Amino acid sequence: MKLFVPKETREGERRVALVPDTVSKLAALGLDVTVESDAGAAAFATDADYTAAGATVVEPGAVAAAFADADVIATVRPLDPERASTLKAGAVALSFLQPNNDTETIAAIAGAGATALSFDLVPRISRAQSMDALTSQALVTGYRATLVGAENLPKFFPLFMTAAGTIPPAKVLVLGAGVAGLQAIATAKRLGAVVSAYDVRAASKDEVHSVGANFIELDLEALEAGGGYAKEMTEERAARQRELLTPYITESDVLITTAAVPGRQAPRLVTSEMLAGMKPGSVVVDLASETGGNVEGSVAGEQVIIDGVKIWGAKDVASEMPVHASRLYAMNVVALLGLAVKEGELVLDPEDEVFEGCAVVLNGEIKKGDAA
Ligand SMILES: NC(=O)c1ccc[n+]([C@@H]2O[C@H](COP(=O)([O-])OP(=O)(O)OC[C@H]3O[C@@H](n4cnc5c(N)ncnc54)[C@H](O)[C@@H]3O)[C@@H](O)[C@H]2O)c1
Repeated sequence: MKLFVPKETREGERRVALVPDTVSKLAALGLDVTVESDAGAAAFATDADYTAAGATVVEPGAVAAAFADADVIATVRPLDPERASTLKAGAVALSFLQPNNDTETIAAIAGAGATALSFDLVPRISRAQSMDALTSQALVTGYRATLVGAENLPKFFPLFMTAAGTIPPAKVLVLGAGVAGLQAIATAKRLGAVVSAYDVRAASKDEVHSVGANFIELDLEALEAGGGYAKEMTEERAARQRELLTPYITESDVLITTAAVPGRQAPRLVTSEMLAGMKPGSVVVDLASETGGNVEGSVAGEQVIIDGVKIWGAKDVASEMPVHASRLYAMNVVALLGLAVKEGELVLDPEDEVFEGCAVVLNGEIKKGDAA
C-alpha cells in the first residue's frame, strides 16, 4: 500500500503532514511512504531526512503519477480540487476538511470515487484522542498566542523585585478556555503573569483552576451543547456578558481571546468601546480572527492599533511553529491510519464511531455537509 505526502500548496502553510520520525511507524503498518521533494522544507525536514527514514522522495514532475498511484494521501490543508479529481478510486485522503466550506474539493474526491477523512470531524472520545489534530494544533496556537502577547507588550510579564523598586506582574485575561485557551493560560503562568480566564462551559472553572489561573464567575447561566462544546449566545446574553466582562478587560495588560462555537462565526466578545477602556500599550491577541473575530476591529494576519491598543489578528498560527505542529499532526495521521489499516489493507468500518464521524466522503458518496 502506498502513502503519498505532497507539498502543501496553500500560501503561508509551513506544516507538513508527515515528519521523517513517523515514516517507520507507517512502514510498520505496511505502508510505503513517498514524499514530494521539499514537502518538509518549511518545517525543517529535508529530503535527505525523509530518505534516511526510509521514504522515497519524488521530484515535482513525478507528483501526478504519485497521486494517481497512492492508496492514501496525507496533507494538512484540503487538496485542491484539480488534484483531488485525480485520486484513484478507493483511495483515502486525510486532511483538515470542512464539509460546508471545502465543497469543491469534496465534490472532486467524490467524483474520483475516493474517500475523504477530515481531522475537523474526528469525534472527541477518549479512544480517538491520539487522532485529534484539532487539539494538537490548538495546543500550538494557544502557546504561541501568549508568546505574541508577551513579545508585543511593552512591559515585563513577571513580578520583579529590584534594588530600584518593584515591578508588578502583567495581568493576562483569557476568554475561551478550551484547548488553546488553557495552553495560553499555562504559558502565561510560566512566564509569571497574573492570569484570569472566563468560559461559558460549566466544566471550565475546574479546568482553569487546574492550570493555575483565577476563574471569573459571572452571574450568567452556563452555555453548553453536546460533546463538551459551547452553544451560541443570544444577542441579549452576549450584551450582558460584554457588560460584565468590561471591568476585567479594562484592567488587563494582555487579552487573549479563543472563543469558538462549532459551525458558527466566532462570538463577538469585545467591542471597540470595551477596547477604549484598556491602557495604551495593552495587547489583544484574537485567535478567532479568521472566523469573524472575537474582538471588533481585529483583522486576520494583521496588527491593528486602536486607541493605543495593539490588536493582533491570528492567521495560520500553528504554521508559525511548523516543526512541532507538523510532528504532532504527523502523530495524529499515524494514529488514524493505525485504526484504518488492518494487516496491510485499508479497512474503514463505517460503523466505527471514528470513521462515522470523520468520513466526509466514503468511496465516492458524500456523507457530510449540505451536499450529503
Ligand atoms: N478528546 C477529548 O475528549 C477532547 C479533546 C479536546 C477537547 N475536548 C473538549 O472539547 C471542548 C471544546 O474544546 P475546544 O478547545 O475545541 O473549543 P473550541 O475551539 O470550540 O472553543 C474554544 C472555547 O471557547 C469557549 N466559548 C464559546 N463561546 C464562548 C463565549 N461566548 N464566551 C466565552 N467562551 C466561549 C468554548 O466553551 C471553548 O472552551 C472542551 O470541553 C474540551 O475540554 C475534548
